[in-house]
Amino acid sequence: MSTALITGATQGLGRALAGSLADRGWDLVVTARDGAALAHAVDELRDHGHQVVGAAGDVSDAVHRDEVADVVIRMAGAHGLDLLVHNASTLGPVPLRPLRELSTDDLAAVLAVNVLAPHALTRALLPSLAAAGGTVLAISSDAGIEHYETWGGYGASKAALDHLTLTLAAEEPAVRGYAVDPGDMRTAMHQAAFLGEDITDRPLPQEVAVPGILTLLDTRPASGRYRAADLLAAATTPGVAS
Ligand SMILES: NC(=O)c1ccc[n+]([C@@H]2O[C@H](COP(=O)([O-])OP(=O)(O)OC[C@H]3O[C@@H](n4cnc5c(N)ncnc54)[C@H](OP(=O)(O)O)[C@@H]3O)[C@@H](O)[C@H]2O)c1
Repeated sequence: MSTALITGATQGLGRALAGSLADRGWDLVVTARDGAALAHAVDELRDHGHQVVGAAGDVSDAVHRDEVADVVIRMAGAHGLDLLVHNASTLGPVPLRPLRELSTDDLAAVLAVNVLAPHALTRALLPSLAAAGGTVLAISSDAGIEHYETWGGYGASKAALDHLTLTLAAEEPAVRGYAVDPGDMRTAMHQAAFLGEDITDRPLPQEVAVPGILTLLDTRPASGRYRAADLLAAATTPGVAS
């Protein structure tokens, strides 16, 4: 039995990935701040018949992270944690704004959720991950590489998360590290970034991002940065090795 921790799993990509892993028989620990939404997600995920535990809280809260780590270590047992997904994330203040209008406190809050929390959770769970030969999966963004106006704080946080994840993989031979750009997705976060705009042309998380990530987990290529769309294309194009 495989075990995963997915942060931010009540909606969007985290919820869709949790559903697919539950379908595949994984035991799950899932988190989010909204306890009622989390309880609902846990109920749905438990319909799959495997262990699912919800831990409500903000990933930037050290006390919450300690609780999450305790739950995960207990569930994963001696086998260890197979997959840690750093999915919970914040854009920072919306509407997104140029750096000259982004306060230092606002930037610190973005880094607390998108960078410091994943680093702390990874450290707390590293022995369990190493025991299982597990995987750290950081959900990244093209904003971590490109320099889009108004996306500077969020983009810097994703660049930092990528760097931490791939450096960890270089340091820890027992652990794989992936930074995955899921591509644009029709989610609440994307709508918040494009306030008032029609985003119905963007794919749902289960259309590209989740199948791309599942391909990554199935094939376990070398640690590195990947795009979900490329992973999916390689998996579905005859003659192209994934
Ligand atoms: N959507 C896109 O187009 C897009 C593109 C590139 C990358 N991404 C990345 O993909 C990932 C998923 O994004 P999404 O669009 O699926 O987001 P989403 O639909 O807004 O869902 C975010 C999830 O994370 C939880 N969450 C948010 N802040 C949290 C915190 N501080 N602590 C714990 N849980 C928290 C939310 O629940 P609560 O609000 O109850 O906490 C929710 O379950 C993120 O890392 C994002 O940066 C998204």
